Amino acid sequence: MDGRRERLKELFLDIKDCNDCGLCNTKTRFVFGSGNASAELLFIGEAPGKNEDLQGLPFVGRAGQILDDLLASIGLHRGQVFITNVLKCRPPKNRDPRPEEVEACKGHLFEQISIIGPKVICTLGKHSTQLILNTKKGISGLRGRVYRTEERVVLPINHPAAALYNPHKLDVLKKDFERIKTFLDKEETEKERPVKDMGQGPRQLGLF
Ligand code: URA
Repeated sequence: MDGRRERLKELFLDIKDCNDCGLCNTKTRFVFGSGNASAELLFIGEAPGKNEDLQGLPFVGRAGQILDDLLASIGLHRGQVFITNVLKCRPPKNRDPRPEEVEACKGHLFEQISIIGPKVICTLGKHSTQLILNTKKGISGLRGRVYRTEERVVLPINHPAAALYNPHKLDVLKKDFERIKTFLDKEETEKERPVKDMGQGPRQLGLF
């Protein structure tokens, strides 16, 4: 044991009653995230939805089933990765996170990243990708690229919910998961892919 589990638990206790934005007043449960505190692979979604809000766990609804299936397709399960969101409290009616909510909540996520120290961060959809890469670009221009520094690789992919009614998006996700696996296995050399600088945001926070 290297103490990461205990540090995550301490962080959870520190932030579970957070009232830095109004969402604490409308949520049912605070959704910290779940998985392996020493995971090499971290997934970051957008925010808890209805099921997550009721159960206090990330990705337990239909998008979560897709995520589970995609993990299984590369021989992984939830106990081997860590899954969390940009926002820890559900926005009413699943509306998009507001900039001030992201601003209030992002420190919790950055703490989680620094404790877990994943080798690969996989951002699911626009909101987590924009936050982690400190950009306003849309997900379609970022997905499929690789962003890295000495310690970490960030792979933006589509949000699993996008595949709920779109078989093509599911195929794209399956391919992207294959790629995640190659990064975990350290087999990919990335010669053929553009490698982008991550911008100033994450660096300034000392995360990468
Ligand atoms: N969508 C997300 O972005 N996060 C969840 O936890 C569930 C659905």
